[in-house]
Amino acid sequence: MAARGCLLAICISRVLISSRGVFLEPDQKVSVPIGWIQVGRVSASDQILLTFALKQQNTDKLQELLEQVSDPHSLQYGKYLSLDQLSSLIQPSEETLKIVWTWLRNHGVQNCSTVQTSDFLKCFMSASTAEKLLTGSKFNRFTDGHRTLIRSLAKYEIPEEVAKHVDFVGGVHRFPSKNTVISKAWKTSRHRIAGFHLGVTPAVVRKRYNLTASDVGSYENNSQAVAQFLEQYFHQMDLTVFMQLFGRSFVHHTKVDKVIGCQRGIKAGLEASLDVEYIMSTGGNIATWVFSNGGRHESQEPFLEWMTLLSNMSAIPWVHSISYGDDEDSLSMAYMKRINIEFMKAGVRGLTLLFASGDDGAGCREVRKGVNTFDPNFPASSPYVTTVGGTSFKNPFQITAEVTDYISGGGFSNVFRMPNYQLSNQLVTGLIFVLLKDVAVKSYLKRMKSLPPASYYNVNGRAYPDVAALSDNYWIVNNLIPIPWISGTSASTPVFSGILALINDRRFQKGLPALGFVNPLLYSLQGNGTSGAFFDVTTGCHLGCLDEKTEGQGFCASPSWDPVTGWGTPNYPELLKALLLGKVDDP
Ligand SMILES: *[C@@H]1O[C@H](CO)[C@@H](O)[C@H](O)[C@H]1NC(C)=O
Ligand SMILES: *[C@@H]1O[C@H](CO)[C@@H](O)[C@H](O)[C@H]1NC(C)=O
Ligand SMILES: *[C@@H]1O[C@H](CO)[C@@H](O)[C@H](O)[C@H]1NC(C)=O
Ligand SMILES: *[C@@H]1O[C@H](CO)[C@@H](O)[C@H](O)[C@H]1NC(C)=O
Ligand SMILES: *[C@@H]1O[C@H](CO)[C@@H](O)[C@H](O)[C@H]1NC(C)=O
Repeated sequence: MAARGCLLAICISRVLISSRGVFLEPDQKVSVPIGWIQVGRVSASDQILLTFALKQQNTDKLQELLEQVSDPHSLQYGKYLSLDQLSSLIQPSEETLKIVWTWLRNHGVQNCSTVQTSDFLKCFMSASTAEKLLTGSKFNRFTDGHRTLIRSLAKYEIPEEVAKHVDFVGGVHRFPSKNTVISKAWKTSRHRIAGFHLGVTPAVVRKRYNLTASDVGSYENNSQAVAQFLEQYFHQMDLTVFMQLFGRSFVHHTKVDKVIGCQRGIKAGLEASLDVEYIMSTGGNIATWVFSNGGRHESQEPFLEWMTLLSNMSAIPWVHSISYGDDEDSLSMAYMKRINIEFMKAGVRGLTLLFASGDDGAGCREVRKGVNTFDPNFPASSPYVTTVGGTSFKNPFQITAEVTDYISGGGFSNVFRMPNYQLSNQLVTGLIFVLLKDVAVKSYLKRMKSLPPASYYNVNGRAYPDVAALSDNYWIVNNLIPIPWISGTSASTPVFSGILALINDRRFQKGLPALGFVNPLLYSLQGNGTSGAFFDVTTGCHLGCLDEKTEGQGFCASPSWDPVTGWGTPNYPELLKALLLGKVDDP
């Protein structure tokens, strides 16, 4: 084996020299986001950290396995894999490892670390080496006034022989995406302050979603997490003040239990405060972790940083709330497909990932002059995450019915096909598929009398969001100051996440496995008629394109599932009842 490896290495190095170049991400949009400027070329010796996403094995099997462990009618339901088992399934082949390593070593790249699943390789090298390795790349330094980044606006090629073994290289093109949290305070406070506004506090959220004082975590090893990707830090003191002001009616932790990454900021970020304060309000008394992925090196991609971290940690919280997204059309196919596999990897381990659906409604993109389409948001559009949309109170003075928040992100993916769990309601009974009537997406499309023009969306794509929660007028405490009018699906996501963490808590107490990837279960519930698990949001439309054809409107809410608020907002006691089941025995 050793001798053969040696021979292979020699033969590879010869191949590499003569091999032609291949662009790995020709479709990645490379532009400097608003607010960033180019400062200049990096110097040849500046250190660059590149992340190589190595081709995995058995990704078909991974997908199959995910469907089984997430389907309550399968014998495999809840039989999650450990990180070791996952590694054995998907780790790259010997050949992949050998070819990539040889390529790197031939360029003098040695300072690399890998993850437990062996499918990511992070390597430090000088800028001059990086530019030789990635033919065509040209690294520059950029700044937004607060921090600097190293990126290449020019596309990169790698040798054809190596390209077969690498999905993409991280740390080259993508800038951190924009923050999704919206503070309306400074914009609207003047006219809002005139009339008293209720504002959303933990007590309001808990009352609306029917959480009583005893609905808090009590299982010792339960846990939940939020992840941050900008210079977002939270302060333990903010949490303390927040809970003193707003947390008197329920048992809660007073501290974040664990911070992964650095917390060097002096000022706390709105997003970080919001996420931590609200996941700990619905997921009361549950241990909470904060993943702080500011991008520790100028050439890192913070989101990718978090994804690779998941593959390197065997003990990790069950539920993750993530308020982060980019326009699908700005990202390369190779990148989105690979990140989607990373979500499957999380799902087979029993992790639940919730993403904010975005704050631009259906989004809008100009295809060519005068021709628009909607612009879906990724990862919200991934079939393997649970996406959370936004609502507001119909009457802001009362804790009652919710309506669509017009910013609530939603629509249909242009990249990912509609997954089985959305196509129709399939209950697998032994070997017989019982097809119930189209309950979710197709039923919406049939039912709606007026839909946006067909050219604006991909009717066969993964439709989102899956669920929703309040997204308007939250109170938070930030840098010791209570701040009202915080809005966005960034608020909805930690609220819903805390509720799923609480349901996990009850499941663990009954000896049941974690919810894991919960969408197949959520969509199958509704096949049995309205189960009462959700408050259906039936009125209002979200934003779309400001053009004559659509007049600013995207999709509209309707009874049952819709691409604005999904199934609706959680009615905790009923949702708990519906989700407190193990494998369902078929008759
Ligand atoms: C790898 O590179 C980093 C960044 O330049 C440096 O801090 C570290 O010491 C290097 N490790 C080795 C083993 O050379
Ligand atoms: C993964 O964890 C191991 C052991 O804790 C560490 O040595 C390695 O550097 C980590 N990998 C990355 C890419 O950070
Ligand atoms: C939950 O809340 C709704 C509306 O606030 C209420 O009508 C209902 O009775 C509550 N309880 C349960 C168990 O659903
Ligand atoms: C919690 O985890 C620890 C360490 O993994 C384990 O020893 C303990 O038994 C667990 N407790 C429960 C209640 O499962
Ligand atoms: C739906 O109802 C059927 C018949 O009552 C039952 O067998 C099935 O388990 C239910 N599905 C879920 C997901 O609760």
